[in-house]
Amino acid sequence: MKLVYAIFYEPESISAIFLLANLTSVALFSLISGAWPLSFVSTTVYAILVYLITRRLAIGHQYISNKNLTGKTVIVTGAATGIGRAAALDFAKSGARVIIGVRGQERAERIAQDLMHESNNGTVVGYDLDLSSLANIKAFADKVDRVDILVNNAGTIVSSYTVTTDGIEAQFGTNYVGHFYLTKLLLPHLMQSRVVNVSSFGHYFVPSNGIDFTFATLKNSYSRVHAYGISKLAQIWHASELTRRYGIKAYSLHPGGVSDTHIHQRNRLLDRILFQCGMVISKTVQQGCMTTLFCALSDDARPGHYHSNCCVREPSNLACDQRRAKECWEKTEELIAARVQV
Ligand SMILES: NC(=O)c1ccc[n+]([C@@H]2O[C@H](COP(=O)([O-])OP(=O)(O)OC[C@H]3O[C@@H](n4cnc5c(N)ncnc54)[C@H](OP(=O)(O)O)[C@@H]3O)[C@@H](O)[C@H]2O)c1
Repeated sequence: MKLVYAIFYEPESISAIFLLANLTSVALFSLISGAWPLSFVSTTVYAILVYLITRRLAIGHQYISNKNLTGKTVIVTGAATGIGRAAALDFAKSGARVIIGVRGQERAERIAQDLMHESNNGTVVGYDLDLSSLANIKAFADKVDRVDILVNNAGTIVSSYTVTTDGIEAQFGTNYVGHFYLTKLLLPHLMQSRVVNVSSFGHYFVPSNGIDFTFATLKNSYSRVHAYGISKLAQIWHASELTRRYGIKAYSLHPGGVSDTHIHQRNRLLDRILFQCGMVISKTVQQGCMTTLFCALSDDARPGHYHSNCCVREPSNLACDQRRAKECWEKTEELIAARVQV
């Protein structure tokens, strides 16, 4: 029931219902009356109107901040493309010094240059960051001297069972453990800061038995949706535990369905085609970074909670389970301790 309610809350669902209702009425009307009653001009106007309303509904709430971030340092992971890049640009335009974590030092510097140019001489620094390597994360964290907002945005979807450099399942290791370790290393800078975890609605697709930390089932029959969901569920727990344990203002969020990003290009062909068809009911990257900006900057965002469509939302029952959140934290600490000298 909670899942159904959550689906129908999302602006993309409202937009899809509106579009389908219009298509169905047109089809039924034509079938019953045996002819299409509108002239060519009226049909064109109607089609344009339906398109524009569908697009508007998909956008949902927007958060436009007028905060001046001069003197603040914002870190955005995965800022090479998509939602992370759009958010980094917005922070730079607001006057913050933005540190972007991007795979490859040369690429990070090049993207930082582009963002500085696009933000009219904002300050953007690019450092190499590969969240699938704990050693690389440590090297990145060592370069950071100050953080006011940490946006744990990078994310990946892989279609078969693979592991990170440290032998952890790739989606869990990159999307969650990598960010967990980065946040841990930056903790001394974070006590007065905000931490924003870009999670996903996909966290709903984890069976109620939760996370098997041995990943035995996934090793035998890999489901990328299941593995992605696990990594995103753990990110919600991570934010709530950061607030509970340290009083840090930490937030998790679903950015909405954003089709013009790179993450879907790693999907299977059929999924990519479906996603392209869904463009009309999805957000652009600028619209998709709104809830990230809301969590990073708004006084209405609630620490320790999950957000979607620029509002506080209830996540799945599993995501609300504090005992499991605590267990996940402890298991992650063990996982990391077994691989690095902390
Ligand atoms: N788009 C959606 O509909 C949607 C929905 C729900 C949640 N999200 C979440 O939103 C976040 C941003 O995704 P997006 O849609 O903007 O996709 P995207 O364009 O693919 O952005 C993801 C970024 O993460 C980076 N990344 C991947 N693996 C990495 C690693 N090992 N180390 C460092 N960076 C890495 C990618 O860098 P490279 O260019 O080097 O690969 C990329 O820049 C993700 O966490 C995703 O799960 C997206």
